Formats: sequence, C-alpha cells, structure tokens
Amino acid sequence: MVIVRTIDALQEAKNALSGSVGFVPTMGALHKGHLSLIQQARKENEHLIVSIFVNPTQFLEGEDLDAYPRKEAADTRICELSGVDILFMPTVDAMYEKDELHIGAPAIRGYILEGEKRPGHFDGMLQVVMKLLNLSGANNAYFGKKDAQQLALITQMVKNYFMDVKIIPCSIVRDEKGLALSSRNIYLNGEEKERALSLSRSLKRATKMVMAGELNVEVIKKEMLIVLEETDEVEYVAIVDREFNALDVVEIGNTMILVAAWVGKPRLIDNMWI
Ligand code: PAF
Repeated sequence: MVIVRTIDALQEAKNALSGSVGFVPTMGALHKGHLSLIQQARKENEHLIVSIFVNPTQFLEGEDLDAYPRKEAADTRICELSGVDILFMPTVDAMYEKDELHIGAPAIRGYILEGEKRPGHFDGMLQVVMKLLNLSGANNAYFGKKDAQQLALITQMVKNYFMDVKIIPCSIVRDEKGLALSSRNIYLNGEEKERALSLSRSLKRATKMVMAGELNVEVIKKEMLIVLEETDEVEYVAIVDREFNALDVVEIGNTMILVAAWVGKPRLIDNMWI
C-alpha cells in the first residue's frame, strides 16, 4: 500500500495502476461500516483507493470538527490489511485554496432534513466529494446508505455535472443489537448506547406496521415517535420517496424512513429503505 498526502504524489501513484479503480472516501476513525465499503470495493475493482480527510467545510460553526475522532495509525493498519492500493490522506492546504469556487447543494433537496438542521453542510460535503472523485479518477465510488441524503445528493451531483464515475450505494452495517455503526458512537456511554437503540427500534416498528398493511405516513410516524421517547431529543422522523419527496402513503419499493435524534453527546441518524 502506498500512502500519499499530496495531489502530485496521488497522481503519480495512480499512474502506476492499470485496470478498474474503486474509491472509498472517508473521514477516518474507520469502523466495520467503512470496512464493508472497502471490502465491497476491493471485490469489484482491480485497484482500490481510500481517502481519509476530515473535511472542514462540511462542519458547521460549533460542530465537532476539532473533536472529531482521528485514528491515523489504526486506520492505516486497517487499510493495509484490507488490500488498499493507495491511501490518500491530504492536508487541508492540499485540498483547498483561499478564494475557492463553490458548488452548492440543490435548493430543495439540499435544505430539508439534514440540510435544514445543518445548513451549509451539504455544500461543503459536495465540494470535497467532487474534488475527491475527480482526484481519484475512480470508475466506482462507494457510499453508505446510512447517510441517505448525502448519497442522493452525490448521485445527483454526478448526474448534473456529467461526471464519469458510478456511485455504488452500500448497506447499513449494524452492531449485534441493531445500532447503526457510526464514528460518533464512541461518544455514547453504556446507558446511552441502550437508549440509542430506539432509533433502529423505531424503524423496525415502522417496517412491521408496513408489513401488516399500515401505509399511512402520519400513523407510522406517530408510533415511531413513541419508541423514540427514549432519546434526548428527536430532530426529525421523515418518510420520503427515494428522491426525497414527502409521501402521504408508503410506496413499497420506493420509500425511505429516516430518523435523526440526540442521545447524550452525539446526534445520531438512521434509516430503513422499504
Ligand atoms: O460520509 C463521510 O464520511 C463524508 O461526508 C465524506 C463522504 C467522506 C466527505 O467528506
């Protein structure tokens, strides 16, 4: 595995590769969720590039940029053992200049749900993902369904800017109790971890209701909110189609149920695709 930190070194390392390239962009603190993306990308491509970059432009004022977990040594080892060809760990200066050109999230889909709670977050996320996709020159790029809105916006960006890369959505990875894996789960103590399970429980409850024939969105959301009373604060429960349009009635095969809630220090998100 080659570790590169500059754009020139990345280009040089990439030039030595021939054949299909898979790319997994991350912010580090790798867990089993990342590992499943890396493993899938490893299987489906001849070469694999992983990036680790805690992107400042997607953190809002007062968010956990400085405290965001950084585990370079452990992450490097995981990448090495997973058959990564190039590990790209750029500095902020390598990625950004002062008076940058900006791309923005779409006015509606970029400013509802996560975008409403974290205004500007998706602008910064798309800005860095555009750079990373261009730099990697990958054929296939892998993103988790857990960040469903991020995934939808990246897919839209690739379509709108005619970018030559295929975005591959990957399943959510959960712990044995059902908690969706996230780098921020390390902030949860034992009691909070138990309460955090109410996110996945609320989604299970919703799925069961749908399976039993209840398709009314308001009725399902009401039940979910009861399960979510165990959290400290619910930010949203949403039932939308795969393009993030609000639904009154669940459309089997085209629906996502999404939840965001605070438990202790972290803000957690989870979702289920129906
Ligand atoms: O999902 C993430 O970890 C980040 O948003 C991403 C896609 C690596 C961009 O910084």
